[in-house]
Amino acid sequence: MDKPQIAFIGAGNMASSIIGGLVRSGHPAERINAADPYPPSLEALSSIAAVKICENNAEAVANADVVVLAVKPQVMAQASDSIAQAVQATGAVTISIAAGVTIASMQSRLGDKAAIVRCMPNTPALLGCGASALYANSWTSEKQRNYTESILSAVGMVSWVPSEQALDAVTALSGSGPAYFFLFMEAMVEAGVELGLDKDTASALTLQTALGAARMADENGLELAELRRRVTSPGGTTQSAIESFQHNGLDSIVAKAMQAAANRAAEMALEMG
Ligand SMILES: NC(=O)c1ccc[n+]([C@@H]2O[C@H](COP(=O)([O-])OP(=O)(O)OC[C@H]3O[C@@H](n4cnc5c(N)ncnc54)[C@H](OP(=O)(O)O)[C@@H]3O)[C@@H](O)[C@H]2O)c1
Repeated sequence: MDKPQIAFIGAGNMASSIIGGLVRSGHPAERINAADPYPPSLEALSSIAAVKICENNAEAVANADVVVLAVKPQVMAQASDSIAQAVQATGAVTISIAAGVTIASMQSRLGDKAAIVRCMPNTPALLGCGASALYANSWTSEKQRNYTESILSAVGMVSWVPSEQALDAVTALSGSGPAYFFLFMEAMVEAGVELGLDKDTASALTLQTALGAARMADENGLELAELRRRVTSPGGTTQSAIESFQHNGLDSIVAKAMQAAANRAAEMALEMG
């Protein structure tokens, strides 16, 4: 695939991570433009890659095939207005990584026939091991979908979803998911301390156990339930713990929490218009 000219509007944490990943994976820095009103963000970005720093958003997108809107949701309207004319002239695809900003609200600013991809990334993208879901509107071509996929793949795995509504479920799963694992790990550390371990030891063992379990699940190719069965000897310690979780309704606790997150994601999209 040829390398698209990419414009980043907003050069903060997410933009820097994606640009870093792109350049490491062989995307030429001179095919990346960036604009941001906050000079320290641009300085930090320049130390990562020799991208072209632009005076303003319109200049950044003028020759772009792909525009990545990497700004906070509350400034999306302003940022979209600043690129609308150029995007309409070039037919570039615009990717939004802002939570809760709908395709309809972006089309109302970028044009009815604008190619738009909505992306829901998560925080581990900042370390290059994110999980992003993508939804494209019908004006987005196959080539533009491929461009989008290659850009988000620079910071982790990518998955397309068939409807915009599915992004609410994604928000509840991988978007908020890192915090669920932190919460579970916090509880394990506390329980370890109650069982008599010191906090540092409990924290180190919890963290390494989480990393090891995630790697096993990733590398083994087995179903999660099968992996669990293989470390659960009949009548053993793990079985006692698993039965306690099941007796106390872990599945239903997780399902209710994720439903609450999905409901909130849908509400937030309505609030943002
Ligand atoms: N960080 C994450 O882990 C994560 C995960 C999932 C999704 N996201 C989404 O990704 C988006 C970016 O997040 P981030 O963490 O990278 O934010 P960030 O570090 O605050 O970066 C955004 C940058 O955009 C600049 N900006 C503001 N208005 C602008 C405009 N009109 N034109 C151009 N640039 C403008 C900001 O400057 P000022 O500081 O001067 O406003 C800031 O430097 C957000 O919508 C966020 O919801 C982030």
